[in-house]
Amino acid sequence: MKSAFRAAAFLLSSAALGYALPSTVPLRLHEGFWRGEFAIGAQNFSLTVDTGSFAILVKQGLYQPSATSKPTNLSEFIQFNGASADGIAPAAETIFFVRDDVEFAGATVHDFLVGNITQGDDLPGDGVAGFSPPASDNEDFSQGQGLIETFCQEGDLTPCEFGLAVGKNGTGSIIFGELDQDMITGPITVLQTTTHDSWEVVNSTEADSAILVVDGQPFSHIVPTFDNGTPNIIGPLDTVKAMLQSVGYNITEQTNDFVTVALGTYDCARPAARVGFSFPPSTDVHYVNLEANVLNRTADGRVCTANILGTSTVDAPFWSIGQTWFQGRYVQHNLDNNTLSFVDLKA
Ligand SMILES: *[C@@H]1O[C@H](CO)[C@@H](O)[C@H](O)[C@H]1NC(C)=O
Ligand SMILES: *[C@@H]1O[C@H](CO)[C@@H](O)[C@H](O)[C@H]1NC(C)=O
Ligand SMILES: *[C@@H]1O[C@H](CO)[C@@H](O)[C@H](O)[C@H]1NC(C)=O
Ligand SMILES: *[C@@H]1O[C@H](CO)[C@@H](O)[C@H](O)[C@H]1NC(C)=O
Ligand SMILES: *[C@@H]1O[C@H](CO)[C@@H](O)[C@H](O)[C@H]1NC(C)=O
Ligand SMILES: *[C@@H]1O[C@H](CO)[C@@H](O)[C@H](O)[C@H]1NC(C)=O
Ligand SMILES: *[C@@H]1O[C@H](CO)[C@@H](O)[C@H](O)[C@H]1NC(C)=O
Ligand SMILES: *[C@@H]1O[C@H](CO)[C@@H](O)[C@H](O)[C@H]1NC(C)=O
Repeated sequence: MKSAFRAAAFLLSSAALGYALPSTVPLRLHEGFWRGEFAIGAQNFSLTVDTGSFAILVKQGLYQPSATSKPTNLSEFIQFNGASADGIAPAAETIFFVRDDVEFAGATVHDFLVGNITQGDDLPGDGVAGFSPPASDNEDFSQGQGLIETFCQEGDLTPCEFGLAVGKNGTGSIIFGELDQDMITGPITVLQTTTHDSWEVVNSTEADSAILVVDGQPFSHIVPTFDNGTPNIIGPLDTVKAMLQSVGYNITEQTNDFVTVALGTYDCARPAARVGFSFPPSTDVHYVNLEANVLNRTADGRVCTANILGTSTVDAPFWSIGQTWFQGRYVQHNLDNNTLSFVDLKA
């Protein structure tokens, strides 16, 4: 999920890792989100693994203090985009941080900042575990503590990188450390990304920026963020509407509060438009898996909704490449070199 807005105070923390990480931890797809199992204090939580946000946040009412929990004075307010399976729901959360033991993948960090949501909208699973790059050191973005960053700071993840290898069948894994060559096939694409806040691709000119491609035709230059915690492909309202219309889809638009979203519907009997991305100078197009392309269909099976969402909360040229695109790929996130690499998984 992309955190659209944050307002908060500031934090720093100390943490210590108990033991080194195993290389692979399973994830499973549940209603558009990839979940992993985390222990916080004396409780277990199934959290959305989210490369689009930073902190660990537990859904309202679930967190209970344990023998190891300590209060802090840190609090914040966050708004997320795309907190529901169809990508539409925004979520506003008021959070008070505690410090507690957090265990993931068999490794424990002590006195880790955990966001206890005290009032907020529904979130997928029991909450969110952020795996974005470190939050910017400014008031709009800080808060919480990054688990991956902490593993690396403690020297338990060298080199500082992890992969998400997710299949087309709802099972996948997070793999710590270097890319596992045994799982992949074909050429690897390496992209430079920003150092903070999100896995956003860096371009130095318009010509070298990523291209949105529809049915083999370049549609527009974009600046994408890779975010597996977003359930679909999300772009600016007008660009998405124009793109859906260009392939003959009907637009369904809805406005709630101050957010307008648009989806495209089409006759399921026609071939679906294929949406993908290319990264110059390569002209290879990396498409969303066809099945993941469909958000839903009517009960009679006749009208399909494409899994591409336009929203007024995103401005051109920015796009989010969400989890549908990850399916069938190994996506490697490198915090030492600020790169994101991807390659096909072996079938
Ligand atoms: C948490 O999960 C672990 C591993 O599955 C299990 O051993 C433990 O009993 C669980 N704890 C609670 C409080 O459910
Ligand atoms: C966590 O938030 C709940 C409200 O959801 C509140 O009742 C509880 O006291 C908080 N716990 C701590 C340790 O802050
Ligand atoms: C919270 O703030 C109060 C007032 O400034 C201070 O006395 C207290 O020690 C702080 N608590 C923590 C856990 O930092
Ligand atoms: C899902 O796909 C992966 C490969 O992508 C395979 O290893 C695994 O066995 C499959 N699982 C199921 C339940 O089909
Ligand atoms: C990066 O690409 C976008 C989209 O083409 C463009 O609007 C932007 O100006 C480019 N950035 C730079 C620094 O050239
Ligand atoms: C698209 O809109 C037209 C005109 O309103 C309508 O006749 C058609 O059934 C719609 N098709 C789909 C798939 O929504
Ligand atoms: C498909 O999803 C869209 C967006 O949530 C919704 O407006 C529409 O009613 C859904 N259609 C079906 C058949 O579930
Ligand atoms: C990261 O950069 C270092 C230094 O330039 C280089 O040795 C290393 O191979 C790079 N790692 C990856 C995964 O590209």
